[in-house]
Amino acid sequence: MTALTDMADLSIEDGIAVLTINNPPVNALSQGVRQGIKDGVEQSLANDDVKAMVLICAGRTFIAGADITEFASAPKEPGLHPVLELMENASKPIIAAIHGTALGGGLETALVCHFRVSDTGARFGLPEVNLGLLPGAGGTQRLPRVVGPAKALAMMTSGAQIGAAEAHADGLVDEIVEGDLREGAISFARRVVADNVPLSRVRDRDAKLAVDASLFDDFRKSIARKTRGFLAPEYNIRCIEAAVNLPFDEGMAVEAELFRELMSGPQSRAQQYFFFAERQAGKVPDVPRDTPEIPIKKVGVIGAGTMGGGISMNMANVGIPVTIVETKQDALDRGLGIIRKNYENTAAKGRISQDDVETRCGLITGSLSVDDLADCDLIIEAVFENMDLKKDIFSRLDKIAKPGAILASNTSALDVNEIASATSRPESVIGLHFFSPANVMKLLEIVRGDATGKDVIKTCMSFAKRIKKVAVLVGVCPGFVGNRILFPRQTQANQLILEGAMPHEVDKVLVEFGMPMGAFQMSDLAGLDIGWSAETSKGETIRDRLCEMDRRGQKTGAGFYDYDEKRNPNPSPVVEKLIREFAAEQGKTLRDISEEEILQRCIYPMINEGAKILEEGIAIRASDIDVTWVYGYGWPVYRGGPMHYADSIGLDEVITTLRKYQEMTGDASWEPSPLMVRLAQEGKNFSSLN
Ligand code: 3HC
Ligand code: NAI
Repeated sequence: MTALTDMADLSIEDGIAVLTINNPPVNALSQGVRQGIKDGVEQSLANDDVKAMVLICAGRTFIAGADITEFASAPKEPGLHPVLELMENASKPIIAAIHGTALGGGLETALVCHFRVSDTGARFGLPEVNLGLLPGAGGTQRLPRVVGPAKALAMMTSGAQIGAAEAHADGLVDEIVEGDLREGAISFARRVVADNVPLSRVRDRDAKLAVDASLFDDFRKSIARKTRGFLAPEYNIRCIEAAVNLPFDEGMAVEAELFRELMSGPQSRAQQYFFFAERQAGKVPDVPRDTPEIPIKKVGVIGAGTMGGGISMNMANVGIPVTIVETKQDALDRGLGIIRKNYENTAAKGRISQDDVETRCGLITGSLSVDDLADCDLIIEAVFENMDLKKDIFSRLDKIAKPGAILASNTSALDVNEIASATSRPESVIGLHFFSPANVMKLLEIVRGDATGKDVIKTCMSFAKRIKKVAVLVGVCPGFVGNRILFPRQTQANQLILEGAMPHEVDKVLVEFGMPMGAFQMSDLAGLDIGWSAETSKGETIRDRLCEMDRRGQKTGAGFYDYDEKRNPNPSPVVEKLIREFAAEQGKTLRDISEEEILQRCIYPMINEGAKILEEGIAIRASDIDVTWVYGYGWPVYRGGPMHYADSIGLDEVITTLRKYQEMTGDASWEPSPLMVRLAQEGKNFSSLN
């Protein structure tokens, strides 16, 4: 075996050159890999003993794409394009042997090989769109030629992967190897040589390119809602259109031009940043990787309401048995009924089978006694947001839970330390803050109390992955990270409507910024009567008055908006009148408020709150705040998250704007956080803290 670079080596076995890439963890196409492939192919072509080449990877996967860490620096020779050209035009057959995931530049490398074989578990995809990009090494032109434009559209605009069997049926994989992949690939290569199989280049195939002209516009319409605000999906579509309408080389030129444009734009910068932010969030500096974990085989959930039901579904979805405890049979029946209905709805959409519905429901057991949770490894409390009630439940759990069981609260804002104080084992207590709907939202805010054990933290971080959540570890403070940042935005939104902006105008700005809904749509969805009661209402806020009018949000068909039978929000003349009268009572004169002011007044206080959270050590890193807001509240990932957004504006600019509104409103809460001021003075940004 000859080492080509420190990431690739070459061995020649009876006329077959085997080029092995070894660049852990995912065999990204780093400079050493590109150089290794180039040298390996050149040496094999020059060696008369070599009749064919096999390209294979060591470790857990085939090449998973370009090396994203290289994107920020100047390109290093050799570039990927000339290496792929060398492969595609090689006079001897090259066979890609694929296991794990062939993604992005990895699949593009496989597509210039003359043949592809894979093991049964291999997966294939072009996920560049998730980095705000498009495949930039010919993937946009070659994939449609193999799987057809319709499937290429679906794969490239979503990043979705296909498995080996589907890839084989589509002709992307020539043969599936059941046994040892290396052996199988070598034997395939020998057959190619023996049978003198002609070398086929994907670029020369065009049989699948004939499509209806309407394909592209129909497709655009079908993804419009999901991809609102994103540039990359549309650019991917344009490349596939070019593949269909232009000769190969011209299509490649379109790809190169659009790739350059995306790569130099802010969206891709934000999405690349976010790729690493998400992975960083899983790392806790003072909890070493080898910290022992507590095995979680059975979970208990207390409360079968909105959150308890959704939380339980997460466990059942991955095969973990759950017992849900309620106080009364009817509440339990209602909770279990909603879970079943949710699964039935998913089955009706074809996303799971009826068998899955039964299996999952079968994993969920109802009970009216916490004693039934005695054998659970993890118990998650999701009862009403009331400290006395939660403390009472935790003191009961302390008595019945087995030693070492994790006792978690789903509280959205209460003090986890105080909850822990109701037990004799605060080291076992932690916050597991799911987001609504808990079976859908990806974020899990893990709240670490003062006494929470490292094994408990480690277990919960791993458990989050197991139930397919993205975990962010935070400290204790009112509202933790996500809701604490939401509060000042809601405060400003409420003030803006007393100064002249109507609820729908505020919401429009937030939605155009990329949020899934505006501040008032969100309030209506959550219910305006949370924490409100008719007996104590003094009509002191717009919200009080709306509740007094029985406009309690979506559930009553009216709140800040009027809702039609499809739950579409419509601006309400009643609310507009109420706001005008209320403002007049308060002696406020309404004025025209620009969209820029609405945006800044809603978003900049969030940034400032994020800075305070960092200063207090409640979040480990600025990027964790961004992950929280993208996965918990739908902040547009193409703007990175509130802290990345602040960096992209420049902290000086953010501080100047905060001070402007401080002066305008006389409100001291606009005072920029000392951390932000210090960073700006040092010419640094939030990202420098990551
Ligand atoms: N470049 C650099 N580092 C990468 C990387 C890449 N393409 N892909 C993954 N990594 C790193 C991760 O940052 C992580 O590092 P860490 O351990 O220091 O945090 C490590 O590899 C392991 O990654 P994951 O934690 O994500 O491991 P998983 O096993 O969960 O997932 C994976 C593996 C499915 C390959 C996933 O990492 C992934 O989806 N990677 C990105 C794939 C991708 O987007 N490819 C396209 C790149 S762009 C491109 O190819 C442009 C081309 O068209 C020219
Ligand atoms: P909910 O009112 O829908 O459900 C609470 C359930 O707890 C009810 O079914 C009630 O019967 C049950 N319950 C009350 N006391 C009980 C007891 N002693 N034993 C067993 N069951 C009992 O409330 P929701 O919305 O599910 O909230 C639960 C918790 O989750 C709260 O702490 C809330 O702050 C938090 N949370 C709520 C979110 C939301 O959007 N609804 C989001 C994130 C957290």
